[in-house]
Amino acid sequence: MTADEQKQAVGEAALQYVKDGMKVGLGTGSTAAWFVHAIAREVKAGKRLTLVSTSVQTTQLAESLGLTIRDINDIGQLDLCVDGADEIGEGLALIKGGGGALLREKLIWEQAKTCVVIADAGKHVATLGKFPLPIEVEPFAFKGTVNRICDVLLEYDIEKVPVQRKRDGQPFITDGGNLIFDVACGAIHDPAGLAHELKSLTGVVDHGLFLDLAEVALLGTDTGVRTVYP
Ligand code: A5P
Repeated sequence: MTADEQKQAVGEAALQYVKDGMKVGLGTGSTAAWFVHAIAREVKAGKRLTLVSTSVQTTQLAESLGLTIRDINDIGQLDLCVDGADEIGEGLALIKGGGGALLREKLIWEQAKTCVVIADAGKHVATLGKFPLPIEVEPFAFKGTVNRICDVLLEYDIEKVPVQRKRDGQPFITDGGNLIFDVACGAIHDPAGLAHELKSLTGVVDHGLFLDLAEVALLGTDTGVRTVYP
């Protein structure tokens, strides 16, 4: 199976967690898009679901498929969130945010009773950090914030400079109006410590380490969908 076929397979497999009447968060990215398509089919077939989205991109896709996206503030706690990831490490520690939606994704994940991560098998790694870690930064005084991020990274033996994400030559702006800096860490040996230190910096809105949030991962492999628990 190609990576795209694996993504489709796990997008479909995640339907096993979706029951009639549930409140469901829709993730962002190419894998989550397959889940959104599967959900649209289920809703057309009569399943009653209340849906919220983790990004403008996903809202646009969902609405183009005839789905209604509700405001999370009107919905409250969700039963389920299904979303992709950029890396899946030990204990289902994740790097997310390759698509730039990490803040809204984390806000939705933290409001869901069950979070299911879906990905092609290539995302499963022994040690997090090969995929650059996205860090969402408030634009005001961002240079000082980046300097302090570098200080924290050094404490974790990561001697890498955060690179500002660009799109079409212009700074990438998140749905929340912030900047993204990507750090090619190489290896993150203490994800919990790094997550805590980064989050404590004024100017860091959030980072792409999603720890202790995923309850289960569905991985697309050549031989079918593999279920992995923390
Ligand atoms: C979006 O910001 C990300 O967190 C995505 O969930 C992640 O990048 C996975 O995307 P793909 O499914 O496109 O690889």
